[in-house]
Amino acid sequence: MDPVRNPYAPGAGQRPPELAGRDREVQQFDVVLERIARGRPERSLVLTGLRGVGKTVLLNALRSQAINRLWGTGKIEARPDQSLRRPIVGALHMAVREIAPHHRDPEQVRTALSVLKAFALRANDPKATGRARWSPGIDVPAATGRADTGDIEVDLVELLVDVAALARDVGTGVALFVDEMQDIPPSDVSALCAACHELSQQALPLVVVGAGLPHVPAVLSASKSYSERLFHYVRIDRLDREAADLALVAPAADEGVRYEPATLDALYTATDGYPYFVQAYGKMTWDHATGEVITPDDVAVAAPEAETELAVGFFGSRYERATPAEREYLHAMGMLSTNGDAIPTSAIAEHLGRKPSSLSPARDSLIKKGLIYSGERGAIAFTVPHFGPYLRRS
Ligand SMILES: Nc1ncnc2c1ncn2[C@@H]1O[C@H](COP(=O)(O)OP(=O)(O)OP(=O)(O)O)[C@@H](O)[C@H]1O
Ligand SMILES: [Mg+2]
Repeated sequence: MDPVRNPYAPGAGQRPPELAGRDREVQQFDVVLERIARGRPERSLVLTGLRGVGKTVLLNALRSQAINRLWGTGKIEARPDQSLRRPIVGALHMAVREIAPHHRDPEQVRTALSVLKAFALRANDPKATGRARWSPGIDVPAATGRADTGDIEVDLVELLVDVAALARDVGTGVALFVDEMQDIPPSDVSALCAACHELSQQALPLVVVGAGLPHVPAVLSASKSYSERLFHYVRIDRLDREAADLALVAPAADEGVRYEPATLDALYTATDGYPYFVQAYGKMTWDHATGEVITPDDVAVAAPEAETELAVGFFGSRYERATPAEREYLHAMGMLSTNGDAIPTSAIAEHLGRKPSSLSPARDSLIKKGLIYSGERGAIAFTVPHFGPYLRRS
């Protein structure tokens, strides 16, 4: 069928034509926004789940909700070994600019911006001069004595408190979205939790909304034991049958295209309801379909190409990042994990005939690369759904 009209959107962070099966999270977030704007105590949301389940697109949808309520918003994507200071400056600068037009007192907006600038300048190495100095592009003089100690924990608390106060004046709030939360460096995790803690004690309207791999709760609580009281963890999972069907049927209906019921059976079997797979199969099947009613035969014809596409774009791109020693570790996991469940690390060592300690470097680096995670002590699992079968095939 006409590929130009193909509505499906496989790809990291690609907005799906229909955000299926996420109504509960969307409603929950509406309540969070409303309560926080009214100064009521509320835990913020952190979305956790495997690769490709739709955390990023849901985070973006939540951001739109906040924007619709005239909140100031900003988004960052954490990276291993990168301090949050610079990305936070960009995100909050954006948020302040969104709030500014609604604020009565331009002087207070300038004051908040000057604190943001003071915070930003601390991203520079004190010895750096001239071009080596990063300039944040905020055209007010930097404040002194606020958010400028160089200790991220102290500075972040002061900055977020001041930005939140600005939003409170206009009767809304600020939402800071943090994707790939498991990658925040430990000192910054601790600072972020401390800041959220302070904000909630002062009932100030600023929320940090996160998304990341399933071990995010463990990463946060390793830094601050009270993190569980700050964040409400929401597991984002594969779509159930009804939602997976909706993800396929609704966008097609907009184009006057239908699915035979047996086609939807075949597609659910192939995709297991994983959103990335749903989009990839949906797209290929559409391209191969011969009429305005999509049949199981169309799925059968499209399947090899959909699998090839996934092998390259979804699995292969991640496998490529692993070194030979890490690949050996992955293959051992692939042999031992038949259903995607966590595997004891001792079993992997035994399978490879090695001492567990000799495998720690490969394991730690695979965790850092986001390919595997450890949700419980002494066990490890793939972050990528269906990675085991992919490794066994290749
Ligand atoms: N609720 C949904 N309904 C239909 N399709 C969805 C849904 N959520 C996500 N998708 C599709 O799934 C794919 C992956 O989404 P996304 O990049 O948000 O996943 P992710 O969980 O952030 O993955 P990663 O951990 O790799 O960053 C995209 O193609 C997106 O369009
Ligand atoms: Mg993502």
